[in-house]
Amino acid sequence: MRRKIVAGNWKMNGSKDLSEKLVGSIRSEAGTLDKGVEVVIIPPAIYIGDVLVQAENALSVGVQNVGRWQSGAYTGEISAGMARDAGCRYVLVGHSERRQIFGETDELVAEKVSLVVSSGLTAIVCVGETLEERESGQAEAVVAAQVRAGLASVPAGKWHDIVVAYEPVWAIGTGKTATSDDAQAMHAAVRKVLKDMGAPSESISLLYGGSVKADNAAALFSEPDIDGGLIGGASLVAKEFMCICRSFPVGAEN
Ligand code: 13P
Repeated sequence: MRRKIVAGNWKMNGSKDLSEKLVGSIRSEAGTLDKGVEVVIIPPAIYIGDVLVQAENALSVGVQNVGRWQSGAYTGEISAGMARDAGCRYVLVGHSERRQIFGETDELVAEKVSLVVSSGLTAIVCVGETLEERESGQAEAVVAAQVRAGLASVPAGKWHDIVVAYEPVWAIGTGKTATSDDAQAMHAAVRKVLKDMGAPSESISLLYGGSVKADNAAALFSEPDIDGGLIGGASLVAKEFMCICRSFPVGAEN
């Protein structure tokens, strides 16, 4: 059975105060969630310590990005090894904001994925098409190419440390979500690409991201190839986020 995951990507939002209150509130309810659901908090790196204290091992913690080196004279960077040392379990790699604003390429994504899994962490590898690519009928080809290139260097035996998040760029922060049918179709296509790459595709969790809210999560999470969500804005509001965490169909087995 695949891991069900709800990950909250705070992006460059939050504060010390929010790290304490929001995470404290999520942690206090974590015990009431379905046993198979893993909650991951991904704050700005500077708040990782505060979030870990509040998470009390009931929640997992991740970082939004790591550098392409393990240590050295790279002012401003943090490494996958440091993220692990600090107590993180997850690293987001290749978020569309990193690709679009910071010019990250598929090649760099592949390098980082390899560093992350070699450091004993799980990489949440983000892929997704732009509106233009969707409207011109290229969505599936674009996403398939991102999956193939981004995961080209996963060492043998490390596939269990890979999670793929499909986040259509046009759905991020816009209030527009892919329909659950469209999202399911893309997740099935991603799973097929993984299978063709020789990965254990049936055991890799695939998350949907892009304007997931309390009122659309249940429809998305009931699709057979959607194993959870990568949540932006709604992860900053405890009630909304917990409602999303409770949106898996009861007793469903993938
Ligand atoms: P929103 O949920 O705010 O659309 O953000 C999605 C996202 O980019 C998560 O990584």
